[in-house]
Amino acid sequence: MSLKFNSKYSESIVSPSDIEAIAPKAVKAMDTLMSKTGEGNDFLGWIDLPTNYDKEEFDRIKKSAEYIKKNADVLIVIGIGGSYLGARAVIEAVKSYNYNLLAKDTPQIYFIGNSISPSSLNEIVSLCDGKDVCVNVISKSGTTTEPAIAFRVFRELINSRYSKEEAAKRIFCTTDANKGTLKELADKEGYETFVVPDDVGGRFSVLTAVGLLPIAVAGIDIDELMLGARNAQNELCDTDIEKNAALKYAAVRNCFYNKGKKMECFVSYEPNMTMFNEWLKQLFGESEGKDGKGLFPVSCVFSTDLHSLGQYIQESGADKMFETVVKFNNCLNDYVIDEQEGNIDGLNFLAGEKMSVVNDKARLGTLLAHTEGGVGNLIIEADKLGAEEIGYLIYFFEKACAISGYILGVNPFNQPGVESYKKNMFALLGKPGYESEKEKLEKQLDL
Ligand code: PA5
Repeated sequence: MSLKFNSKYSESIVSPSDIEAIAPKAVKAMDTLMSKTGEGNDFLGWIDLPTNYDKEEFDRIKKSAEYIKKNADVLIVIGIGGSYLGARAVIEAVKSYNYNLLAKDTPQIYFIGNSISPSSLNEIVSLCDGKDVCVNVISKSGTTTEPAIAFRVFRELINSRYSKEEAAKRIFCTTDANKGTLKELADKEGYETFVVPDDVGGRFSVLTAVGLLPIAVAGIDIDELMLGARNAQNELCDTDIEKNAALKYAAVRNCFYNKGKKMECFVSYEPNMTMFNEWLKQLFGESEGKDGKGLFPVSCVFSTDLHSLGQYIQESGADKMFETVVKFNNCLNDYVIDEQEGNIDGLNFLAGEKMSVVNDKARLGTLLAHTEGGVGNLIIEADKLGAEEIGYLIYFFEKACAISGYILGVNPFNQPGVESYKKNMFALLGKPGYESEKEKLEKQLDL
């Protein structure tokens, strides 16, 4: 399978000659990436993942997923950022954002440890009442505060419900291969462990055990997901910008940025893509937003948000943003609109029409309205919302993001800004070693 990228509805803002002008820089950025000579080149393990993954571990993931499906009503997935968003994005995209409400033969999957909200934590604990539970804790560093707090609670819950031996079989740790608190604990307690490879950063890790175990538990075919990613790996290599969708997309979004459009709005017409948009926001925001540079990623699900943010985009978006629309050409579960006697709602002109057609007309109408309003639209087309297509899209966006970051002149693989809030939070909580900082911050806050 392949994917189509179309920038023709943006030509009044980013012209073919703009793209031609930036093309050499984009090709150079891709060469820097593929020759592994750029900044952050120790985090490029994701490039070969679709072909060069640990096959023994992949089989263990499938076996563990089967074990969890057989022995648990609920899987608790603990993680934050790149250790959370990818799995949830894929499960909701391929299954449904109503996954937990569906009639199914796979466990409920609850995500926790992605905030420090006690109400959310308590809610998930109570949802486990009377249920058989397994836990997959995911943290590359093994020390991130949010998942560490949640893991304390759920480890305790498992330990209090099951024998020591049974408890050990119900906890699965995805972490560093050799080091970290979580790895030490897993080895000591005999938990099954999976690896976040050293050379794969959190937001590029969905195709490792980080994403694959929860995705497999949800009943999604992880071979298909990897196949899609592998197709993308093989297809998105051309140095001709017209023949490489990832290269062209990376170039065009930089053209928008250089023309002062500092926001990219990821748009889908499928609510099931809501969390995929969140994954995209992390991927691009954390990779490019540094050194005072980078597009600010936002997202919308249309037509829902046409009744809220659509107003802003139409009338105030032109000088600051563009839209990247991910479109699926075939609907897997369509609905045909009925004729109704009396035509009271006046909708009989749609009788016999597929709802997917109505959705697409809304998309086309919006495309015309927003581009006339001065907001450029980039269109990414995939065949359908399936595991293979999502695997392809994941790799497409990862590669485009890395190239785009190099065009922009940043290291797309670090996240130094994430540390600032942590330092302050630890100081304010009185963590040993932060005493003088605590006093200073409390004065600043006037506490
Ligand atoms: O992309 C990233 O590197 C981050 O979002 C991390 O995934 C996030 O901070 C969680 O880190 P860890 O897996 O070490 O708990």
